[in-house]
Amino acid sequence: MAAKAYQNFIGGKWVPSRTGKTFLNINPARHDDVIGEFQASGAADVDAAVKAAAEAWKSWRLVPAPKRAEILYRTGELLLERKEQYAREMTREMGKVLAETRGDVQEAIDTAFYMAGEGRRLFGQTTPSELQNKFAMSVRMPVGVCAMIAPWNFPMAIPSWKLFPALVCGDTCVIKPAEDTPLSTFNLVQTLIDAGLPPGVVNIVTGFGPDAGAPLVEHPLVRAVSFTGSSEVGRIVGQTAAAHFKSCSLEMGGKNAMIVLEDANLDLALDGALWGAFGTTGQRCTATSRIIVHKDVLRDFTEELVDRAEELIVGDGLDQAVQMGPQINRPQIETSIRYCEIAKKEGAKVLTGGKPLTKGALAKGHFFAPTVIGKVKPGMRIAQEEVFGPVVSILECASFDDAIAIANNIQYGLSTAIYTRDVNRAFRAMRDLEAGITYVNAPTIGAEVHLPFGGVKQTGNGHREGGTGALDFYTTWKSVYVDYSDKLQRAQIDTGE
Ligand code: UN1
Repeated sequence: MAAKAYQNFIGGKWVPSRTGKTFLNINPARHDDVIGEFQASGAADVDAAVKAAAEAWKSWRLVPAPKRAEILYRTGELLLERKEQYAREMTREMGKVLAETRGDVQEAIDTAFYMAGEGRRLFGQTTPSELQNKFAMSVRMPVGVCAMIAPWNFPMAIPSWKLFPALVCGDTCVIKPAEDTPLSTFNLVQTLIDAGLPPGVVNIVTGFGPDAGAPLVEHPLVRAVSFTGSSEVGRIVGQTAAAHFKSCSLEMGGKNAMIVLEDANLDLALDGALWGAFGTTGQRCTATSRIIVHKDVLRDFTEELVDRAEELIVGDGLDQAVQMGPQINRPQIETSIRYCEIAKKEGAKVLTGGKPLTKGALAKGHFFAPTVIGKVKPGMRIAQEEVFGPVVSILECASFDDAIAIANNIQYGLSTAIYTRDVNRAFRAMRDLEAGITYVNAPTIGAEVHLPFGGVKQTGNGHREGGTGALDFYTTWKSVYVDYSDKLQRAQIDTGE
């Protein structure tokens, strides 16, 4: 049977790419399962989509925010009805287990309801003027056309983090989903359409970075760019946006540390480590990739983690019994293999895993064994560089201060966690860990949508998704002065002295 064909969505219409080229979306757990054929778009498609968004902006910006928000609220309701279907389709295209894809759709639902509430807030400020009979306020204005480039690991949640705040703020959007997981963005946008979104307000262009992503970032009518992905691509996106003076939000790599101190509830820490390292097959920006363990509990912790990692059931995420799905594609498997080799050469020890799983039905997909690496030293590449797979390193620490120093000794700063029962050390860690997110007695993954999400150092460029941070990115401040004195009043000069 021929794969279902999907087209770009431009100006409210489904249209084929002008390149005439397409690509296939394939199930990472079963290569013979083709999910669909999508458009491999180019600059002409991007141009049409951006122009449609610019045209739609003329009226969308004038729709009252509470009315824009009603569409988001309806979207949330429809997503709730469609949650199971969309989760199953997401597991098929992305691989993570059903419980997690249900969570991914739920994150979009949460964002829809949260941002719908913003329709009746979008607070600005009023403040006294220094002059008599003069009024001063600052109001949030929409930015205009926003470009969004989304990753494959949260194929619906992350597009919703970008689209929903932009929409409530009065912006129009062109989104390029990841080429590995476009279907979930189609499902999200179809839901917006069914909820009553007018034509041109959101446009989808599918394709690859150099052909479709680059012209989108460069397009003169695009005012803001939101990118989630690798630091390597993020650097190019940021430089391109800077050359055109566009605002640009970059969300990139992590090398997230979990600290386990000697007074921790070890069982709880093990549950957290297993979930943080192998949830989503380790393919989260927030995944736990370094576990820094106090020397007094290192042996017990390591042995137990290895045992638990070996017990994990790996397979097709649609199978209820499976606990860990495949990696997204062949290059990601190769990265996992390469880093295990690098670790060994550096003198670390692969305690379990370290290789692809190819037995039986697993041969049909991109599976990698849950991997624990011991004897890792802070300076090693395996302790410094992001793997984005089910590969976790264990490092030894001698004290709390030592643990913090090791945790901070990296170029990234997204998520961190500490397991301790000592409230003093927990609060010090909250203050001293260099990261955008710190968890106490919980793993490094599991951010909620109404709090700011993002990192410091080379994880990002200072912007936040989620929470009210997103509103700051998708609006621009305008200060408004209303002089009702009926005479010329000069600020800083007519001081009344
Ligand atoms: C990501 O890893 O790219 O905090 C996003 C979490 C999820 C979002 C992760 N809510 O783990």
